[in-house]
Order: sequence, then structure tokens, then C-alpha cells
Amino acid sequence: MKKSLFLLLVSIMTINSCEQKKEEKTAQKYIDEPHSYAQPNEAVIKHLDLNINVDFEAKVITGTATYDIQNNRASTIILDSKYLDILAVKADGKETSFNLGEMDEMLGQPLSIAISEDTKTISVTYNTTDKTEALQWLNAQQTADKTHPFLFTQGQAILTRTWIPIQDSPQIRITYDATVKVPSDLMAVMSAENPKEKTADGVYHFKMKQPISAYLIALAVGDIEYKAVSNRTGVYAEKSMVEKVHAEFSDMEKMVAAAENLYGDYDWEQFDVIVLPPSFPFGGMENPRLTFATPTVIAGDKSLTSLVAHELAHSWSGNLVTNATWNDFWLNEGFTVYFEMRIMEALYGKERANMLAKIGRQDLEEELESLKDSPNDTKLKLNLKDRNPDDGMNSIAYDKGYLFLRTLEETVGREKFDAFLKSYFKKNAFSTTNTEDFVSYLNKNLLEKNNVSFNTEEWIYQPGIPDNQAIIKSNAFDTVESILRTFIETNNIDAQVTKDWTPQEWVHFVRNIPNDISNEQMQLLDDKFNFTNSTNSYIAMVWFEKAITHNYHGNNVDVKIEEFLTTVGRRWYVTTLFEAYKKSNRVDEALEIYKKSRSNYHSVTANTIDGLLNYGKTKDL
Ligand code: BES
Ligand code: ZN
Repeated sequence: MKKSLFLLLVSIMTINSCEQKKEEKTAQKYIDEPHSYAQPNEAVIKHLDLNINVDFEAKVITGTATYDIQNNRASTIILDSKYLDILAVKADGKETSFNLGEMDEMLGQPLSIAISEDTKTISVTYNTTDKTEALQWLNAQQTADKTHPFLFTQGQAILTRTWIPIQDSPQIRITYDATVKVPSDLMAVMSAENPKEKTADGVYHFKMKQPISAYLIALAVGDIEYKAVSNRTGVYAEKSMVEKVHAEFSDMEKMVAAAENLYGDYDWEQFDVIVLPPSFPFGGMENPRLTFATPTVIAGDKSLTSLVAHELAHSWSGNLVTNATWNDFWLNEGFTVYFEMRIMEALYGKERANMLAKIGRQDLEEELESLKDSPNDTKLKLNLKDRNPDDGMNSIAYDKGYLFLRTLEETVGREKFDAFLKSYFKKNAFSTTNTEDFVSYLNKNLLEKNNVSFNTEEWIYQPGIPDNQAIIKSNAFDTVESILRTFIETNNIDAQVTKDWTPQEWVHFVRNIPNDISNEQMQLLDDKFNFTNSTNSYIAMVWFEKAITHNYHGNNVDVKIEEFLTTVGRRWYVTTLFEAYKKSNRVDEALEIYKKSRSNYHSVTANTIDGLLNYGKTKDL
């Protein structure tokens, strides 16, 4: 064959395969989902160019969101929007008509924008309002340094629509650029390529070049500094915190390396963590390239850094391979807990990982007990139609999800399981999967291939825990339990044994204090180990829970509990403590505290506690 003819053929073939790829892309079918008004099969956003101003005085964000869209000859494109003032809308640069549909408490309003069949871009000029649920505006008093205000966003699960009009379904992935103007004494960072220093004029430019779901768009603004841990990892925090945070998270690079070693390259180039003020409603949030974290994990001894392993693991399970709908939330969290444990094992050994797994196993038992009247919520695959994902998503996704994957691992053997997981991440990178797709991939590539039969359907679609569950054993915790038994019977504790205990061992000890020990024994323990004044937030929290349920009031513990609840907004901690009051028929005391603490909470924490304590519905408020 002549060289030129060969080249011609090759180029025709390449063009053809490009066309095919294009077609495949256009043909992506989005499945119906209950938490977004978007109709992506008609017209879908592909890229966002966000241009906003952050006004701390007025506590509003104003600006314009411009989208490149993929338009299947539609006459309308629908965005999600909640508590936003929509000021002007354009299609390809020209003003166009739009309609804001009826307001739904959970979903907000569909923003329908008139387009023509060849419209390629749309833009929406808007401002946020004081009802926005994603944003928390903090005054200087609520920060570590107490000198500057702070702002952060929380997008998961369906809150991004309260600060950006957007197609807010995890199935829809976009790249983004942003220009953000903030007061010049503050720095802005996003889930994108980030600055390492402040600019003189307070204008920051961002780029996220990998396609991500809307819930992963995030912004934080404050008087923060950066300190690198390695050339691709580092921390942001307020000045008074940055050294501590840097020391606490000094194993970040090792974690990334261990994760890559397990399940393939880290695809996001940079992995940083920003430690936020204490009202941040989660332990951590896996915003791509920049995890958001609570300061309650800065314990001084690296004991709570499994949180970093967890959020890092989401760079694969969640951010790279994303749950298609919130009903498939366990695909994000169950895989992430499994991956977290493997990272922890790789860095610190099996015993540490097993202690963490065993704590999760006890969490699971408690969650099953509290959900005993709603067994459907103990299934991995959820049905959250007409329910706020924030209410329906519980720790089942995490702990039962983990137990399922660990049981699978033990059934087929680690080597095969790891190869399977690696191929699963690779195959689905930068796309979304639902539970059904996962099950068929599992059947084909792991179970049938190895001739293994497994009760996958029971694990995923039935309530409770199947009989073939892996048994998690921790020798360290066996010792803890025996020391506790001895104490209960004799009031004696062998200090030789407890002197080297890790915080995990203390947590296990405190959590397993039985309900019927005497107040004198609570006092004895507190005097000996000073739990009331523990500087480890996890130990303090489980101790406060016991203090509440035991009606223990020694060592000024009530003052400490109130202080904790008025500064810390981490939803899991706050909920655990308010639930303890409720279970112990001490709701009045809980309400007294909540009246003072509520204004310090982000909306996701406040909403949960409002529901728990019937706040606003009780007559005495
Ligand atoms: N993605 C979650 C946080 C989340 C879940 C936000 C659902 C909104 C809705 C994050 O990765 C997470 O799981 N955080 C945990 C910490 C983790 C170590 C279990 C948390 O916040 O406690
Ligand atoms: Zn998670």
C-alpha cells in the first residue's frame, strides 16, 4: 500500500472513531432521579463559568453563571434553583425569557429558560438570599483567630442550587472556571486549582478541568494560609492553626501514595485539606483537590486522621466514580469506608484498621437498633423519592456498605478483590454508576469469573445484616473490654495496661460503659482519667453522651457539654448529644442549650436538630 493512501485511511479511521466517540457522548442517557428538576436528556450543562462577588457586609453572593450546554434541539433548559433571586437570563448573549416554577421546600424551584434548538450557551445573573442553605457566613468571633469573618459552602447533597443556579444531579458532570472577588484581606479557595497566597486586589481565578458533579463545587473564604506537606499535598488554615494542622496531617503524602498503590493513580493532581472553623457541619467533605475538614480532628497526636484517609478515598469512590442518584449513596460511602480502612492498614497496620472497623461495627449495631421501626432505611439501595436525602442518608451506607465489601473481600480473597476494585474504578472513571450497574459488573467480573456464589441481592436490597457477615476482631478491644469488666466488678483499673492506650481504645472503653453503673463509678472514672476535660473531641463526645444518659453532673461536666455544643457544629457529634438528652427525658435542658447554640450551626445541622427536638413546634418557644 502506498504510504499516502495508508495515511489517508488511518486518518479516515481516526475521524470515524472520533465521530463515534462524539456520538457515544451525545447518546449518554441520564436516568430519572427524584432530587433534580433538570431534564438532561433534552439539554444539559457541560461547563460553568462562574463570575461572582462575595459581599461580607450584606452576606450575599452576586454574579453570573454562564454555561456551555449540550442541546438536543430543545426549546427549554431547566436548572435547579432554591432561594435565589434571578435577575436576568441570556441565551447566546441575548436576553431570553425564563420562568421560576412553584417552590418546593425540599427541591426549590425549577428555573426554565427559553432556548432555541441551536443555543450553545446560557447565562444567569443572580444573587443569593438570607435563606441560602449551602452558605454559612461566620463573624470573626466564630473563627479560630477571631479577627476576620469567614464563609464556606456545603453542597452535598442538594444544596449547591442554593448558591448557584445549576443542574444539581450527581449524574451531570461539568468542568468549571470561576472568578471570585472577595475583600482584599481574605483569600478564596475552591474545589479547583487554588492560590497559595493572597492577591493584592482580592480577585481569584479558578479552574477545575476534570468534570465533576454539582455537589462537589465548593468555596471557602477567610484569612487563611497555605503550608505544603509535599509537592502535591498541603493544608490551608487560619494563622493560629496552620502549624498544628500541618503537623497533624504530616502523613498526607504517604496516604496518597498508599491509595495509589491500591487502586490506581490519583487523578486530581493536588490533594489539599482546609481546616474550617468549628461550626463546619461535617467531619470532612471530599471537595475535589481540596477536602474541607472540621477542626475537631486536630487532636495533637494524629489519632483522628482516618478522616483524611476517608476524604482522600473519595477521590476514587465518589469523585471519580460517582453515585448516579442519592439512592445509590452507599456506592460513594461504603466503598470509601472500605478504602479508608485499607489506607489506614497500609500506613499504621492491621490492628489500628481493625479497631476502626470494630468501632464502625458498633455504630452499625446502634444504627440498626435506632432504625428498627423503619427497616427500609437499613437497605443499601435506598428509595428517597419525596424525602430529603439529608434525612434518608444514614450510617447504613457507611457501615453496612463497608461490611458488605469486607465480606466480599474475605470470600474471594484480597488479591482478586483488589484487582476487581481497581478495574471498577478504571472502567467508571469520570462517570456515574448506580447500584444495578455495579451488581452486574460484580457478577460478571468477580463472582462468575471465579465461580463464587454470593448473596449480593440480600446484602443490597434487604434490610438488616445477612448471616455470612465478616467477623471483625480486635485484640486490643478484647483487652479494653476485660479491663472495663474488672472495673465494674472491683472498681480497680490496671494503670499499667491503660497507660499506652490510643484514643480509639479510650473511645471503645467509654462507649461500652454499661447503662447501669453507679454515679459513684462514673465519678471515679472521671477523677482518674479526666474524661470531662479530654482534649480529644471524640473521647469528649462519647463521654458527654454517657454523662447525659447517666445523669452524671460531676466535675462541671454540664458546663463543658454546653461549651462543646455551642462551639462545635459537627452534625454527628451534635446529634449524638441532643439524642442522648432526648432518650433520657431531658429535652427541656436540651432546648435550653439549643436556643443558645442554634445560631452557630450551619443549616444542615440546624435542620437535623430542629427535627429531633421539634424546635419551633413546641409551645414554649
Ligand atoms: N461526603 C461525606 C459528608 C456528607 C455526607 C455530606 C452526606 C453531606 C451528605 C463525607 O465524606 C463523610 O462521610 N464525612 C464523615 C467523616 C467520615 C470519616 C466518616 C463525617 O462528616 O462525619
Ligand atoms: Zn464520606
